[in-house]
Amino acid sequence: MSLNPFRAKSKLGIDIGTSSIKIAELEKDGGRFTLLNYGIFELKNVRTDSTAENQMARDRGILKLPDEEIVWGIQEIIKKADMKSRDAVASIPAVSTFGTVIEMPYLSGEDLAKAIAFEAKKYIPIPIKDVVLDWSIIEVLNPGQITAGKDRIVKEQKPSTVEIFLAAVSREETQKYLNIMKSAGLTLRALELENAALIRGLIGNDLSPIAIVNIGGRSTSITIVNKGYERISHNYEIGGFEITKSIARSLSISLEKADELKMKFGMKEGDENVINESVASLIDMMAFETRKTLTNYEEAKNLTLSKVLLVGGVANIPYFLEYFKSKLGRDIVAGNPFSRVVYPQELSAVLPSIGNTLSVAIGLAMREI
Ligand SMILES: Nc1ncnc2c1ncn2[C@@H]1O[C@H](COP(=O)(O)OP(=O)(O)OP(=O)(O)O)[C@@H](O)[C@H]1O
Ligand SMILES: [Mg+2]
Repeated sequence: MSLNPFRAKSKLGIDIGTSSIKIAELEKDGGRFTLLNYGIFELKNVRTDSTAENQMARDRGILKLPDEEIVWGIQEIIKKADMKSRDAVASIPAVSTFGTVIEMPYLSGEDLAKAIAFEAKKYIPIPIKDVVLDWSIIEVLNPGQITAGKDRIVKEQKPSTVEIFLAAVSREETQKYLNIMKSAGLTLRALELENAALIRGLIGNDLSPIAIVNIGGRSTSITIVNKGYERISHNYEIGGFEITKSIARSLSISLEKADELKMKFGMKEGDENVINESVASLIDMMAFETRKTLTNYEEAKNLTLSKVLLVGGVANIPYFLEYFKSKLGRDIVAGNPFSRVVYPQELSAVLPSIGNTLSVAIGLAMREI
């Protein structure tokens, strides 16, 4: 029992990835977050086992894996880490969600809701009846300005428009998450886009234009955020698995062995490191794609990103950040979801590596419900 009756209840942020399930338990007390617990459940067999069945599962993504396996993984983490909360906030991976910024005329709340539902059809590639829509106003553009004349007040009649962030998730996928959480004995308090969690966890109230590069097991997402909202997000299906596969292929070794070498030697430069050589072209391509996305946005909007953040498990590969930075040709730093979180002192040594992996889960657990 908590000694402080006003102490906010803790929450679980649950990120179901293709490589592992991550859960962070955070408590908010007087505007400050405290990390109570965290756990990572490696879906190891799925990750490197080369049976045809697992290969297919990997290719199609975790949500095509049996739900029971995910439920079991979640329960294992909660049990082993002795997590107390049963209130969950989960994310839907960037690859299976749709988000865009649109401009609409300034209307009353009710009219705007109707107009957006109608407008959304133009942007969302699947039938509207099959998706759950969500939207929020980013800002009002060109609001009618009031200027004081010599002896009167003139209200300019310039029509206002609103900038809206529109998000859509398929109903089928939403239901799947509801079922998973229920079977795991949890109450799903909110389900949100993975990028929204990353923005909350890594950027907080910083309104400057920032890019987040998240390199996971299956995919990479490059998201540009401005004024706290996602502006564009590019996903491509290359991540840690591809890096492992590339090492295995070029050295003619098993996926298990390749994964082990990837973690041990990483991208350290030098003749003796064959790992670096076997994946350099793949990572160069990832850096090239990232650079293209960042510079295209900067040129189109005529601005400069204030920073580029790197997260995701792949950021833990030794010397990856340094290598990626040199190929990207601009500064990129590790994202730190712990900057606004109080955590046990014994974690300081492992923090950088768990931060890369836990960014989404921490951002989820920070959500107000
Ligand atoms: N310490 C480490 N050293 C090297 N690589 C690592 C390390 N930890 C994780 N990885 C790699 O990071 C990848 C997993 O990253 P992450 O946990 O972000 O993926 P995920 O969220 O499960 O996947 P996705 O988001 O693509 O569905 C794997 O390829 C794994 O091999
Ligand atoms: Mg991920």
